Amino acid sequence: MPRRVGPGGGVLAILQGRLRWAFETVEAALDRIFGSAWNPLYQLGALGFFYYWVVTVSGIYVYILFDTGTTEAYESVQYMTVEQWYLGGVMRSLHRYASDGMVLMMAVHMLREFALDRYRGARWFTWVTGTPILWLVFVAGITGYWMVWDELAQYVAIASTEWFDWLGIFGEAIARNFLTPQTLDDRFFSLLTYIHIVAPLLLLLVLWIHLQRVAKPRINAKRGLAAGTFLMLVVLAFIKPAVSHPPADLNTVPGVLNLDWFYLPAYPLMDHFSYGAVWAFAGVLSFMLLALPWLPPLRRPAAAAVDLDNCNGCERCANDCPFNAIVMRPRSDALPFEQQASVTASLCVGCGICAGSCPTATPFRRASALRAGIDLPERSLPALRDQVEAVAAGLAGETRVIVFGCDHAVPVDHVSASGIGAVGLPCIAALPPSFIDYILSRDLADGVVITGCRQGECFNRFGVDWMEARLNGTRDPYLRKRVPRQRVLTVWAASADRAALKTAIEAFRPRLSDLPPHLPDRKTPPARPGAVDGGGSHA
Ligand code: HEM
Ligand code: SF4
Ligand code: SF4
Repeated sequence: MPRRVGPGGGVLAILQGRLRWAFETVEAALDRIFGSAWNPLYQLGALGFFYYWVVTVSGIYVYILFDTGTTEAYESVQYMTVEQWYLGGVMRSLHRYASDGMVLMMAVHMLREFALDRYRGARWFTWVTGTPILWLVFVAGITGYWMVWDELAQYVAIASTEWFDWLGIFGEAIARNFLTPQTLDDRFFSLLTYIHIVAPLLLLLVLWIHLQRVAKPRINAKRGLAAGTFLMLVVLAFIKPAVSHPPADLNTVPGVLNLDWFYLPAYPLMDHFSYGAVWAFAGVLSFMLLALPWLPPLRRPAAAAVDLDNCNGCERCANDCPFNAIVMRPRSDALPFEQQASVTASLCVGCGICAGSCPTATPFRRASALRAGIDLPERSLPALRDQVEAVAAGLAGETRVIVFGCDHAVPVDHVSASGIGAVGLPCIAALPPSFIDYILSRDLADGVVITGCRQGECFNRFGVDWMEARLNGTRDPYLRKRVPRQRVLTVWAASADRAALKTAIEAFRPRLSDLPPHLPDRKTPPARPGAVDGGGSHA
């Protein structure tokens, strides 16, 4: 059963495995507290957007009260913090804490995509376009601290400019601006304000590019989660309002500083190492991040292929593909349909969800005729049917069960036992529901178990949602009404949930033997050659 494994066998693979285990453990705990719909770890990207909007709205208010200028800047921030604490102060705190939230979210989101191996192969683009986001967020945050012009700003300003001066690319040393009160230039403050506003706008543009290969991206956090997050920020704003240090004074060295560890962790490094070393560290880190999808590259499965003779242009595959890899084009052959599906191979991750959605993908067809409109060349539906029949032939006993699983979720190979057979898939939604009908109506097994990633968090983004909807009859191709639902069990579980899967199957089998026979005479109508009768459809 082919399973995707981590990068190579070295340090990265070990790191990835440990991180994945840690995420799955914490996610299971959060599932219990919040439920899967509100689990923050399942909506990190959407939460990032939420923080972005809070930063933007609070930033607009703060900007209205802000005065650019070496003395005016500090005074205007003090005014909003002290005199207008109930609104200006709260807005300043929201601006600060939501910016911190964004860094936290971004770091965890990035680590999680790495841990779950969702950054290589066709997904390299989304990863690589995420890297400049890191820089832009830091540029926006650091210039924000600078604008307050207190002692922390003075420290950040001098360290940052000396850091840039080390590169020697500016005509004159920009740190000179900060050496004495006389050389400090108001125009430099205007430039900072400009950078502080342009960086988040650029960030929005890069985020848009970031999501170009993600179909129907989740950019809005669930309402309850958004409300809870906002409440948390407001409570924080009241119990620990953001405040300034004493005003900057270029004649003195700043005293004790409270660093924001989300934005300013590089500054203590500058105190201990040379500026050149910190540049080297930032450069190597950025390069490593950019190169990560190819360290080593993923062996990419062959992209899904369209078989025009079997494609009626229904669009289901294009609607179900989570990675925008299918477009509908005008018909190029003589068949009487308006459109045909077309796969962009470079975007395809080989999840097989399209094959699972195609109305022509039904095992009830004759062996020679099982050719779906779209299929995975390396894990085709005819091969799947052969595998199911072979597994079924090896089952014995009263409660024979076939378990379908996803390569990226709880492994199913370890559940194989007497009376239980396992079949792996690249995604659970690669299974056309007609296969379940086929198994039960042909008496190949007494029950079918469908497993895939934990609910709310599918490796292939929509596999679990689409499968649930097909089983519930709310998305084509749906599981036919004639299929006895008590004989179908769904278990959504991650790789850490092996014991839970075993327990669920053990509890399912006795229930099967208590059910009335679903095939009283054990006879099923012979398959009509070439007929497409296995999958339900709303079409
Ligand atoms: C403010 C920062 C960021 C925001 C708001 C953001 C937002 C998002 C969103 C909304 C998605 C789609 C989630 C879905 O619907 O399945 C996504 C996917 C992704 N992000 Fe980010 N992202 C950010 C930063 C980053 C960074 C820094 C990286 C890594 C360097 C990154 C790597 C990825 C990857 C690899 C995916 C694709 C996952 C997949 O193919 O299933 N993101 N991001
Ligand atoms: S789902 Fe099948 S029939 Fe429909 S457009 Fe896609 S390949 Fe063609
Ligand atoms: S296998 Fe199909 S659904 Fe999956 S990415 Fe490729 S074209 Fe899209």
